[in-house]
Amino acid sequence: MEKLIVNNYGSFDVTFVKSKGSTMWDSTGKKYIDFIAGIGVNCLGHDYKPLVKAISKQAKKQIHISNYYFSDVGACYAIDLLESLGFDRGYFGNSGAEANEAAIKLARKYGQLNGGDKRKSIVTLESSFHGRTLATLTATGQDRFHPDSFAPYPMGFKTIKANDFDSLKNAFDDTTAALFIECIQGEGGVNLIDKEWAMAAAKAARDAGAIVMCDEVQTGVGRTGTFLASDDLEIEPEVVTLAKGIAGGIPMGACLFRGKAKDVFVAGDHQSTFAGNPLACAAAQVVLDTVNKDDFLKDVVNKGDYIRSIIKSWDLPIVKDVRGKGLMIGTQIDAKVKPFDIEVKCLEKGLCTTVAGSDVIRFLPPLTISYNEIDEGLKIFKEVLEEFSK
Ligand SMILES: Cc1ncc(COP(=O)(O)O)c(C=O)c1O
Repeated sequence: MEKLIVNNYGSFDVTFVKSKGSTMWDSTGKKYIDFIAGIGVNCLGHDYKPLVKAISKQAKKQIHISNYYFSDVGACYAIDLLESLGFDRGYFGNSGAEANEAAIKLARKYGQLNGGDKRKSIVTLESSFHGRTLATLTATGQDRFHPDSFAPYPMGFKTIKANDFDSLKNAFDDTTAALFIECIQGEGGVNLIDKEWAMAAAKAARDAGAIVMCDEVQTGVGRTGTFLASDDLEIEPEVVTLAKGIAGGIPMGACLFRGKAKDVFVAGDHQSTFAGNPLACAAAQVVLDTVNKDDFLKDVVNKGDYIRSIIKSWDLPIVKDVRGKGLMIGTQIDAKVKPFDIEVKCLEKGLCTTVAGSDVIRFLPPLTISYNEIDEGLKIFKEVLEEFSK
């Protein structure tokens, strides 16, 4: 396979052929519990009937028409999404990085309109992750993502330390266009952002004339138990980006804006051929309607609390911390053990997980995961942690 497709991902030698709920089967018939959901994408699980039905129905009606025209499903979805989240306008795209590119462009233009050429700088957080395009890589606050091989990187980005009030001194001035924060840092190690700090940072940014933008590519669409994680931080961002779970597995992203950011983009400012096509919007409508149903998000909170409390109850010295919110869960492992080795062993035993930061095993299971599947997955996780504790 590597002769055909560059193994950018260091993919494991497993070929999946079938999935249902939060369970997958490989080509040998071996069963796996899915605690990663395609990196937080399959939020309604695999083979979720209303989603499959809506995609099939839309595929028969119309898959793609280009953004030269409006689609009925696209228009309905835009109205429902914006109304339910309290945003004024939006841009649909194809991925998280692309949604963030839109936000970065919007911030730069906002800066120019509200302070001239000097107000172009975007402040992001250390340990953040914003994507793999050149601008989103530069916004990413982790040096390991900035190898010389891809230089030169775009200018106009600055990082500050999250949860550190000293970092807010001199962070923003008349050169700052936006503060851009990931509400819980997923890739960086499932690091929570303190509400008081986030509120102080947002205020300082706004006092300097900047807007506040949240990268909710991973945290959005109910992952943390509220539709947006920024709701919990009470910072009312002018811009929010979404992707991953937004269309339950069909590639899609969105950049939503309101207030001061509402009228920044005009026709021609940002475009993409595939963006928000009818197939993606039909899938996204099912996700939105399902996540907004009574008790869906309460269930996400309960399942996340359940998983964290079970891992804590094992009281294993190898576990240094269990954190996260809703179904975004990080288990910090003793520095003596490589989390990648744990990921490999879990996979061997039939549990899909992933590593985050330098010492964390991350779970992002489907939001619809059953308690039986949780228990099966946790049984494997415990066995693996015990093996590595010896
Ligand atoms: C917070 C965050 N932003 C942006 C991205 C990039 O999204 P994509 O891989 O869809 O381009 C990711 C992907 O992991 C992410 O977690």
